[in-house]
Amino acid sequence: MKNLIDLTFKKEHDSKVLESALYTLNAPSKLIRYQLVHTLCDDLGVCDTHANLFGLALECIHAYSLIHDDLPSMDNDTMRRNQPTNHLIYGEATALLAGDALLTKAFDLIAHSGYSDYVKVELIKLLAAKSGMSGMILGQQLDMEFESSEITMDDYVKMSALKTGQLFAAALMGAAIISKDESHLPHYQTLGENFGVAFQIQDDLLEVTSNASEIGKSLSDANNKKKTCVSLIGYEASLAYLHDLFEDIEEQFTYLGLVGSKTHQLIDSLKQRKK
Ligand code: IPE
Ligand code: IPE
Ligand code: MG
Ligand code: MG
Repeated sequence: MKNLIDLTFKKEHDSKVLESALYTLNAPSKLIRYQLVHTLCDDLGVCDTHANLFGLALECIHAYSLIHDDLPSMDNDTMRRNQPTNHLIYGEATALLAGDALLTKAFDLIAHSGYSDYVKVELIKLLAAKSGMSGMILGQQLDMEFESSEITMDDYVKMSALKTGQLFAAALMGAAIISKDESHLPHYQTLGENFGVAFQIQDDLLEVTSNASEIGKSLSDANNKKKTCVSLIGYEASLAYLHDLFEDIEEQFTYLGLVGSKTHQLIDSLKQRKK
């Protein structure tokens, strides 16, 4: 993906904001959203190169969301992807602009891609919906508001399906659109949301059992009075909830006829993730 990033950004003016955007985009990360696009395109019979641009577009949006999420006005974190957070190196104003630029870049990538006009429009609509005001951003807003209110497990699931689930849903749904296999879009949406909630619960569990250097980012939930699965129902019940969620996910793979597929293997490999 490094080559793809170099190629994509080399036409941009040299600037602090470019440096700042690449600082987070190029930092070592799991690239799960990019990988999900690749595995599902592969499972649906589409060649690898078609997945590249949409995968990168999603990683740009994800990186933007992390840069903004770490800002002092949000989670106020100091470490991300094993390095100091973006604003600590480039300052808050440039970090803000780098996030804006990465979000814009995602749409630029699709617009200039070799996808058909139909696929371009569908992908642009998908990215806008999943990352936007009723998608990931709404999840981030709820996450902040919940700091100072009593919430239920249903509220937590809703928030996680939005802030973390929508970009996973976009990865799967986008791959289905690229592969011209749109009959199962609502099922990919549910699968992405369920995986997002599971992923968020894993994060909450790691917040308790891991440490910043192992996980590569600061652990600030308690300081920020965040509502986590563990704070709501406790550690053991969170493990049980996660187990049940992965069982539902298995059923969805069965329904979709994707048992043993690359996408299934990828999600399976993340069940025991330690970072
Ligand atoms: C971190 O996402 C933010 C959450 C949604 C919990 P990842 O765990 O995928 O982060 P990177 O991309 O590997 O850094
Ligand atoms: C991050 O959520 C989700 C987004 C950036 C959309 P969190 O704030 O819970 O995740 P970390 O712990 O900072 O990665
Ligand atoms: Mg946050
Ligand atoms: Mg955070």
